Amino acid sequence: MTIRAVVKGVGHYLPERIVPNSEFEATLDTSDEWIRSRSGIERRHFAAEGQTTSDLAAKAAVMALENAGLAANDIDAIVVATSTPDLTFPSVATMVQEKLGMTRGFGFDVQAVCAGFVFALSTANALIVSGQAKRVLVIGAETFSRILDWTDRSTCVLFGDGAGAVVLEAETGTGTTSDRGVLSADLNSDGRYRDILFVDGGVSTTGQSGKVRMQGNVLFRQAVEKLATTADTALEKIGLSGADVDWIVPHQANLRIIAATAARMNVPIERVVLTVQDHGNTSAASIPLALSVGVARGQIKPGDLLVVEAIGGGLAWGAVVLRW
Ligand code: ACO
Repeated sequence: MTIRAVVKGVGHYLPERIVPNSEFEATLDTSDEWIRSRSGIERRHFAAEGQTTSDLAAKAAVMALENAGLAANDIDAIVVATSTPDLTFPSVATMVQEKLGMTRGFGFDVQAVCAGFVFALSTANALIVSGQAKRVLVIGAETFSRILDWTDRSTCVLFGDGAGAVVLEAETGTGTTSDRGVLSADLNSDGRYRDILFVDGGVSTTGQSGKVRMQGNVLFRQAVEKLATTADTALEKIGLSGADVDWIVPHQANLRIIAATAARMNVPIERVVLTVQDHGNTSAASIPLALSVGVARGQIKPGDLLVVEAIGGGLAWGAVVLRW
């Protein structure tokens, strides 16, 4: 008997305020044309003043629970992937628990920056497969606008705010790749790459939350190579290849990285869910946002084989293969 963690519901939330590239032209030496051609980004959403990561996360969670036909107290655990928590502690997950009116179970946060949702999904799968939880709400939520340096054109034009969520439920599978649910995962990190993407503040250093610092072109080269490798590794673990994939749902950082990764995997770009143009890089929220939008658009359908893959600060990177 094989226990599978199967997606039962999906949801997302984007803050109301939409900021087009052109808005940056007033304050920075940049252009809509540069941002579009280098990153594929056309617009992004920014949270309102006072709107926190747990607010976005809770809204995405409500939609995912409704989509699954479940109530908050049907859930055993909440795992939130975020690098922009409301407070240093408690976790965003416990804040979401309170906002949902969930009075049982447990919640905790996972921090792997832009790869956070992949790590959270893999962790939630482990909770289900090991029998510690039957239903897990997995959320990616960020307010990256709060850690952007608005004078640094090489970073602040790239990021956005948002949240996405999925509900996973234990189901008995056959143990083959025709099962629905999470089928394999590949997780990696290498702390030697710290200086190419980090936030220059923190509790035990400056006492301030700090701002994003990134060597974009160095990261670009690492991203393409590592993303294609981790996705192929996750597929090979279960005897599959790019040819079996219905949809790649990548971390939405840069259209050129996404396209180059798909090409290396021999997957046509038509089979990649793309939201980067509308959301920018929402870090840990980008994959669950793309899953929810992909379902709403009618792209992702039950039974489809998906690969989700991401890379972020650390560096940390990984991929999960799942059948929707
Ligand atoms: N507008 C105009 N010019 C700009 C801007 C801007 N917003 N930003 C940078 N430039 C300039 C640079 O200063 C540089 O000028 P120079 O040649 O005079 O020095 C020039 O444009 C080229 O800069 P590059 O950094 O080489 O440009 P590149 O083509 O690499 O694109 C980008 C930059 C979009 C950042 C790209 O490298 C990228 O997407 N990198 C990866 C980012 C990523 O994957 N992040 C994911 C993880 S994020 C996370 O974990 C939080």
